[in-house]
Amino acid sequence: MNEIAKAAASPTKAFFVRMITRDITLEDCIFDLIDNSIDGAWKTEGSPPMTLEPHEGLSKYDIRIEADPNKFSILDNCGGMSLDQAVEYAFSFGRKIADHADGYSIGVYGIGMKRAVFKLGNKIRIRSTYRDEHGGRHSFAVPIVVSKWIENDEPPWDFDIDDDEPLENDGVEILVEDLNSGASEAFRNPSFLENLKRMIARDYSLHMSGGLKVALNGESIRARPIELRKSDEFSPMRMSYEEQIDASKKVTVEIIGGMAALPYDDNEPPEDRSRDRERISGWYIACNGRIVLAADKTDVSGWGSDDLPSWHGQYTGFLGIVLFTSEDAESLPLTTTKRSVDRTSVVYRRALRPHMRDVSRAWIDYTNWRKQDLAEAKKKEAETRSIPIHQIQAQSSTKLPNLTVKPRQKMANVNYSVSRERMKELARELGNINMSYKDVGLRSFDYMYSDYVGED
Ligand SMILES: Nc1ncnc2c1ncn2[C@@H]1O[C@H](COP(=O)(O)OP(=O)(O)OP(=O)(O)O)[C@@H](O)[C@H]1O
Ligand SMILES: [Mg+2]
Repeated sequence: MNEIAKAAASPTKAFFVRMITRDITLEDCIFDLIDNSIDGAWKTEGSPPMTLEPHEGLSKYDIRIEADPNKFSILDNCGGMSLDQAVEYAFSFGRKIADHADGYSIGVYGIGMKRAVFKLGNKIRIRSTYRDEHGGRHSFAVPIVVSKWIENDEPPWDFDIDDDEPLENDGVEILVEDLNSGASEAFRNPSFLENLKRMIARDYSLHMSGGLKVALNGESIRARPIELRKSDEFSPMRMSYEEQIDASKKVTVEIIGGMAALPYDDNEPPEDRSRDRERISGWYIACNGRIVLAADKTDVSGWGSDDLPSWHGQYTGFLGIVLFTSEDAESLPLTTTKRSVDRTSVVYRRALRPHMRDVSRAWIDYTNWRKQDLAEAKKKEAETRSIPIHQIQAQSSTKLPNLTVKPRQKMANVNYSVSRERMKELARELGNINMSYKDVGLRSFDYMYSDYVGED
């Protein structure tokens, strides 16, 4: 057969810009930039594996983010990227097969920074100040105007690199102006910014406990440490093992789980339940220290799959965390957006079953069990105190109290509605306006019972 022509298959720049920014949230794009700063900091510091042991390895490093409806910027003092790095791969789309993600980084794919700046806006300036191996200080800037850059698809694709004034500290600054409407609207919205702060505190809590400082619009973000509750009768589980990927690559897996907050009481009216307790509950997954899945209550972490029931308010209080750590970030069960785990990963599947499932199962069983002697269970739960996760001792399964079951008496449940006003009035007459509805009901029943039937 004779070839008569070739069908064009080269990509267009517009395709890249549209596609890579499509399925990622603005928050996750900003996190990609934070990840790069942290990778830079560890590289400068000499990256050790991220462990839970208290350390101050990141205490010299500072990331400042400014976001308003007109512009976005992120500035770090994490050592910067070198001119060689910029020329050779920092701006290319995707790492070459030969470029290994090493040094316990979170960067794997070679796309995060480009995707983030394209998602944010049109006028971009990436600046870097770094030291060469002889201690010489150099600076450069990469200005990009996306609307101009996409005009011409002819290869080679590249960006100009200009000489630049040095930054105050060695590091990277990324400025984005002419923001896309989605970014501009989000940064105008105080609740977006508030939520972003909360997510940073949660997903970088392991880095912040190692001293990393992050500020948004001039306000330092306070880390939210992960803690579990412990007493003589309650104690979280903690185990670790290694998965050998091939002769030279391995992933360390550490799993910790137990009670992080007091479970709900079935009789607490829903409006009295602190939403925070449920919000923090669930499974957390960290890859090289970065929390990629937080407070998960879906089948990704096993709820509602195999033999586990779907998440239910009854399980509130449970918290489990799995830390996957590897010198080779490609071996981690990461998705490209770093907002979930790759469920097809063998390393992840083996952590999920049996280990994570067993930890969830123990808690599910306990929350069923405690209903039989709620008063005793609540007493024991209240005796626990929170401890930081690094203080948890290795123990293969969660220790939970053995509640002795009282001889079963056939019970009748009463459920009726009255106006809240009348309920409160009666509670007040009974001496406590804040008395739970259940207690008002029980007191009323006892009153009628002793009047009509007599004392037990
Ligand atoms: N703040 C920074 N400090 C130092 N180097 C940086 C910084 N930001 C980016 N770089 C350099 O630019 C490169 C490209 O970043 P990019 O986020 O696009 O890809 P990646 O981090 O390699 O992989 P991933 O797509 O998984 O994030 C990084 O590997 C790093 O060398
Ligand atoms: Mg990156």
